[in-house]
Amino acid sequence: MGRGTVVLSYSGGLDTSICIPLLKEEYGFEKVITVAGDVGQRREELAVAEEKGKKFADRHYTADLRDAFIKRCIFPSIQANGLYEGYPMGTALARPLIAEEVVAVAKKEGATAVAHGCTGKGNDQLRFDAVFRTADLEVIAPMRERNMTREWEIKYAKEHGIPVPVAKDKPWSVDENMWSRSIEGGLLEDPAYHPPEEIYAWTRSLSDAPDTPEDISIGFEKGVPVSLNGTAYAPLDLISTMNTIAGTHGIGRNDMVENRVLGIKAREIYEHPAATVLLASHADLERLVLTREEYAFKRIVDDKWSEIAYMGLIYEPLFAALTAFIEKTQEKMNGTVDLQLYKGGVHVTGRSSPDSIYSDEIVSFDTFGIDQVHSVGYSHYYGLQARLTRQKQERRK
Ligand code: ARG
Repeated sequence: MGRGTVVLSYSGGLDTSICIPLLKEEYGFEKVITVAGDVGQRREELAVAEEKGKKFADRHYTADLRDAFIKRCIFPSIQANGLYEGYPMGTALARPLIAEEVVAVAKKEGATAVAHGCTGKGNDQLRFDAVFRTADLEVIAPMRERNMTREWEIKYAKEHGIPVPVAKDKPWSVDENMWSRSIEGGLLEDPAYHPPEEIYAWTRSLSDAPDTPEDISIGFEKGVPVSLNGTAYAPLDLISTMNTIAGTHGIGRNDMVENRVLGIKAREIYEHPAATVLLASHADLERLVLTREEYAFKRIVDDKWSEIAYMGLIYEPLFAALTAFIEKTQEKMNGTVDLQLYKGGVHVTGRSSPDSIYSDEIVSFDTFGIDQVHSVGYSHYYGLQARLTRQKQERRK
């Protein structure tokens, strides 16, 4: 008895590859359709997914999600200063978008189910599920449903003609998109283990980084980067150029222990050179442009936005509400930030904006700007409530 068609989110790796025969033999589907999302990962990785998808599945789709990823995920996360526990989110931003694409293909193909190859330990299962479960489709995740051992997986793959990567050339698990690259697993699971240089692909080590600093400037319009060194760039080019430049200077490496949604602590290593530079410049510009009230409140909103984004709850109504607040604040986020890149560090050297509310006339030691005598009156009642409380306490003694 067949169960129709299932659409599988596909990376070309061992886990998602064995899902193809499993979905037929163990779950009883007649047709398995694979979908690989292009979110700017290595071209070879995408090509492998496409080749294997075409070979092992009944139909394969490669969806170019790069523009959508930038406009719907990366740009909003720059505007929200999107950090989770201090690092720029990457995987968290991309997963829901890929999940939406899987659902769209399922609808188009008249499928009855959608599937992913995530384990039951990580965040990605939740990010997929949150989107998958909004559609009227069965959700299947063989990896977490069957507690398979690596040994069984390898045997099963071999029996089905699926190539098994040699343990030696894939000792770590990598997830990549244009905003971030994460490396985890294998020996890295011991948080005390010092990672070898070879795990890094986007960043130079500090000893290999150039000995001369590089000065750059980033232009922003409405809170998103639009130019580099005075030249307008298309978003995708800007991000990839920044990855190259900042990566050369060894910027954007991050080795940390992170709290996953389920509460599991995980040792994760990230590379995100462009994100480090663009987030630092955006955050700096906000200090020039936003009022104290906007700035202080926005930090709370940014934190909450980032937490919801990390959890992959993109349909949470609060997420849309926070995004609307953030967008409103970004209307006047225009200007330029100058930076110096040097040996893993990014240092802001200057900033300017047509929307700046900075006034050198007012702040300067050298000019009058405001009549300081007015501050005498202001300061009289400053801290009034604290003073009254203290007086009460003194009298009680
Ligand atoms: N810890 C990061 C996150 O939760 C990275 C996860 C990487 N995912 C993966 N399947 N390797 O976003």
